Amino acid sequence: MTRVRRKMAAVVAVAAVLVVSACSSSTSTSTSKASNTGAAIKNVQVFTWWAAGGEKAGLDGFVSVFKKECSQYNFVNAAVAGGGGDKAKTLLANNLKAGNAPDSFQAHAGGELSDYIANGQVEDITSVFKANGLDNAFPKELVSQITVAGKVYSVPADIHRANMVWVNPVVLKKAKLDPTKAPATVKDWIADLAKLKAAGVATPLVLSKGFAEEMLLETTLLGDLGVDKFNGLFDGKTKWDGADVTAALGDFKTLVGYSNTDRETMDWDAAMSKYLMPTDPATATGGYQVMGDWVPAQLLSLKVPDSAYTYWPAPGTDGVYQWLSDSFTLPKGAKNPEGSKCWLKVVGSADGQKAFNMVKGSIPARSDATSAGYPKYQQWAMVQWKSSKLAPSLAHGSAGPGAWNNDVQTAMSAFSANPDVATLQKSLVAAATKYASWRSTLG
Ligand code: GAL
Repeated sequence: MTRVRRKMAAVVAVAAVLVVSACSSSTSTSTSKASNTGAAIKNVQVFTWWAAGGEKAGLDGFVSVFKKECSQYNFVNAAVAGGGGDKAKTLLANNLKAGNAPDSFQAHAGGELSDYIANGQVEDITSVFKANGLDNAFPKELVSQITVAGKVYSVPADIHRANMVWVNPVVLKKAKLDPTKAPATVKDWIADLAKLKAAGVATPLVLSKGFAEEMLLETTLLGDLGVDKFNGLFDGKTKWDGADVTAALGDFKTLVGYSNTDRETMDWDAAMSKYLMPTDPATATGGYQVMGDWVPAQLLSLKVPDSAYTYWPAPGTDGVYQWLSDSFTLPKGAKNPEGSKCWLKVVGSADGQKAFNMVKGSIPARSDATSAGYPKYQQWAMVQWKSSKLAPSLAHGSAGPGAWNNDVQTAMSAFSANPDVATLQKSLVAAATKYASWRSTLG
């Protein structure tokens, strides 16, 4: 607990408000168009972007517990597909503006949640926390970060790690590279990518659009600058226009140069299935993919055994846990607030978190969870979580607000089309200048 406290204190320095969300998924009544009016008042409509694969499996885990604990309600799955919530968040924003709130929605702890709080779109759920003993279930510092002006706004479901590389050992063997050993630095990794290319590997680095490009950018900055300077990018202590950032962006450009040229046309899971882990492993043409640890869940859902791949923290980031946390809210205007509270109780419960995290690749946000029975990856992750320094993720809402993230993603697709480091750095500086003081807007 002390260790977690220290870690969470470090997070506070980076993201003053943390919100966690969890998610739920399908049931017999599932339809994304279901409404909660009149006779359907028993419905609990939950909005996420966990529509398929390992993500849906996680949601289904929550739903299985919801069906037992909240049997007086029907779970209605309002999931909208799209990695990192790219489509879901836009649709949700429109629905909330139009007064068409679901009964609960997924939001990332930190800057992303703070948007909904600042817009008055989520209820204070302090009483839900108290009623279910949740103020003692999570590390105190985590609770303090999902709290604004003494009020709690969401229930944390999980902790995910963003700075991970997933490796196809069969492909690496083509260049006689050891798949179990991470290159120590970004530069060492670039040397290995060159070896793969020289050995005839078509797509040394597997990349996909939007948030995945942003994750590669963030892990390169984290690897090159180190954790303290990286964290400083989000609290104003590190300048985005510095020479060290320019150098890291140069490495980012080199890395992107080793990736598949159709990266803008596909999401992370499609890229993974096309290049890194195709159904027939012998046809794989991708060596590495930077992606969060929803990957083992996805591979589990595709029945890929965990012996078929290896993984390590992104080069230069060993000992750092770039965290993000999914959490669930009670939106203002929810049609079934009592049903929503039952859902939130499940999300925060030990049983709910186990059913969810076991198949989601993440680890429980609850501090009383043990690793018994979890797949190999999560067992390792739980140990790593206790022994690592923390860094937040802009791509997944813990480092800053959604608008900052959107500006960076726009810069990512511009860079993908025209990889010019100076233009990219200018856009990143402009975004940071616009949003770096987001915390001061919170009460
Ligand atoms: C993240 C989310 C994860 C996972 C991922 C890929 O933003 O926190 O739970 O869903 O997107 O879609």
